[in-house]
Amino acid sequence: MSKISVIYGSTTGTTEAVAARIAAALGASAVNVNDAGDDAFGADLLVLGTPTWGVGDLQDDWAARLDAVRTRFAGRKVAVFGLGDSVGFADTFCVAAETLAAAARDAGATLVGDVLKLDESNESDKTDGRIAEWVAKVKAEAGIQ
Ligand SMILES: Cc1cc2nc3c(=O)[nH]c(=O)nc-3n(C[C@H](O)[C@H](O)[C@H](O)COP(=O)(O)O)c2cc1C
Repeated sequence: MSKISVIYGSTTGTTEAVAARIAAALGASAVNVNDAGDDAFGADLLVLGTPTWGVGDLQDDWAARLDAVRTRFAGRKVAVFGLGDSVGFADTFCVAAETLAAAARDAGATLVGDVLKLDESNESDKTDGRIAEWVAKVKAEAGIQ
C-alpha cells in the first residue's frame, strides 16, 4: 500500500483544519511542517499545504523550513493545496501554493493533480466538493487505488 503524508503549515488554523479533511479523504495522516521528519517526508505521495500570507508570501513555517526540506521532494510524487482569500487578496490569491509547487517541481518532484486553491473566507460551501474532486484526480494520477 502506498504511504501518503499530508504536510501543512498554518498560522491561524484554517489550513490545519482543511489538511485534516484532505488527509481523511486520502486515508492518510496530516502533520505540521514543523513536526514533519523522515517518516512524513519519506512517503510515496507528499501532499503539501500552505496558506498565503503577507502579499503573496509563503506561510511562515514553510518559509523557515523550505530550504532544509526541498531536497526531500526529489523523485517523489507531490500534490499541493493552498488556502487564501480570493476577495481580499484577488491579485495574490493562493500564490504561496504555486510557490510551493514550483519548489517541488524544481527539486525534481512529479506534480500530481492541479494546485488546489481553497477559500474558506468566501467559498467555504465549495470546499467539500473541491476536495472530493481533487482527491480523486490526485489518486488517479498517482496510481493509488
Ligand atoms: C494579513 C493577511 C494577509 C493575507 N494575504 C493573503 C494573500 O496575499 N493571498 C491570499 O490568497 N490570501 C491571503 N490572506 C488570507 C489567508 O491566506 C487565509 O485567511 C488563510 O485561510 C489563512 O490560513 P491559516 O489559518 O492556515 O494560516 C491573508 C490574510 C491576512 C490576515
